[in-house]
Amino acid sequence: MQGINVLGTGFYVPENIMTNEDLSKIVETNDEWITTRTGIKQRHISTGHPTWYLGVEAARKALDDANLDGSEIDLIIVSTTTPDYYTPSCACIVQRELKATNAMTMDVNCACAGFTYTLDMARRYLITGDVKKALVIGAENLSTIIDYDDRATCILFGDGAAAFVVEASDKLYASFLGADGNGAKYLIAKHNNPTRWHKDEERFNDGTPETDRHYLSQDGKEVYKFATKILPFAASKALEKVNMNPEDIDCYIPHQANLRIIQTASSNLGIPMDKFYVTLERYGNTSSSSIPIAFDEAVKNGIIKRGDKICLVGFGAGLTYGAIILEY
Ligand code: UT7
Repeated sequence: MQGINVLGTGFYVPENIMTNEDLSKIVETNDEWITTRTGIKQRHISTGHPTWYLGVEAARKALDDANLDGSEIDLIIVSTTTPDYYTPSCACIVQRELKATNAMTMDVNCACAGFTYTLDMARRYLITGDVKKALVIGAENLSTIIDYDDRATCILFGDGAAAFVVEASDKLYASFLGADGNGAKYLIAKHNNPTRWHKDEERFNDGTPETDRHYLSQDGKEVYKFATKILPFAASKALEKVNMNPEDIDCYIPHQANLRIIQTASSNLGIPMDKFYVTLERYGNTSSSSIPIAFDEAVKNGIIKRGDKICLVGFGAGLTYGAIILEY
């Protein structure tokens, strides 16, 4: 068996909503600019919920959907850019909360491409037979690293989590993952504790911007250029592996970063926008949670049905990218 079967999915976002109107009261912006440049109308922002809590709430829904109990899970991987602690991992706390005592646990940080990476990692454990059922979670508390004075960045991001329960299967599957570390400087959040950053010595200079702030900073234009190029590239490379054409996919679930990025990817692939599921207007960019949130919503709304061929495709800090073709 080389593929995976998605047994259940679920997502959770904090109740608190921050609209474009709300943002315009704290930073110089307006609904019209945000909507036309990004497609975002609102985002959910946590009010003190730890990242692990968001992950647990999403995982409980995915387990219910799969009709499984925490004890039946052998592997938990949490994709997160915003873990609560350096150690222990978010996955360990999720395991404790779910009483998933038989599961090994780990966190992975591949930023917004993280869910494609972690789902592919889980699949590699599953096909060896060592792991029978895996829980893959994207959980992000991006508001904890956002500078609400930086109007070009703060308008983009929201908090949330989503989870898949998966097992090995013979279903269609292909993945194509990659990274370009030359772009590390374009999207970066430094060490959480700015007073303990490494020494200002030439040998430690890795080319990232001079800042002692832990907030996420980005060169929006460079990230935009990368994204519009890499989304169609990664999707095409994964499709090639299974001799499929872009039009053979029933639904594309792209990383939800900017509507214009998704529109460009759709036009470069020659696929109409109605085949791309978009949640941006309601959740903004939730980093590694954005793909599984959109997937779960599309399933629950009847847009993705059993047997459909799906392409998950993401990009993010690193710079990282990944595409997965799977049958639901
Ligand atoms: O998961 C990956 C995360 N990152 C991304 O996906 C980022 C990708 N990049 C983008 O989505 C876009 O580059 C942004 C949305 C960040 C910015 O859009 P843009 O069309 O590239 O705008 P810009 O940076 O060229 O700014 C145009 C103008 C500037 O004013 P001037 O210099 O022309 O007078 C900005 O200062 O818009 C101004 N501006 C804003 N105005 C109102 C920037 N942010 C805002 C804002 N409200 N929030």
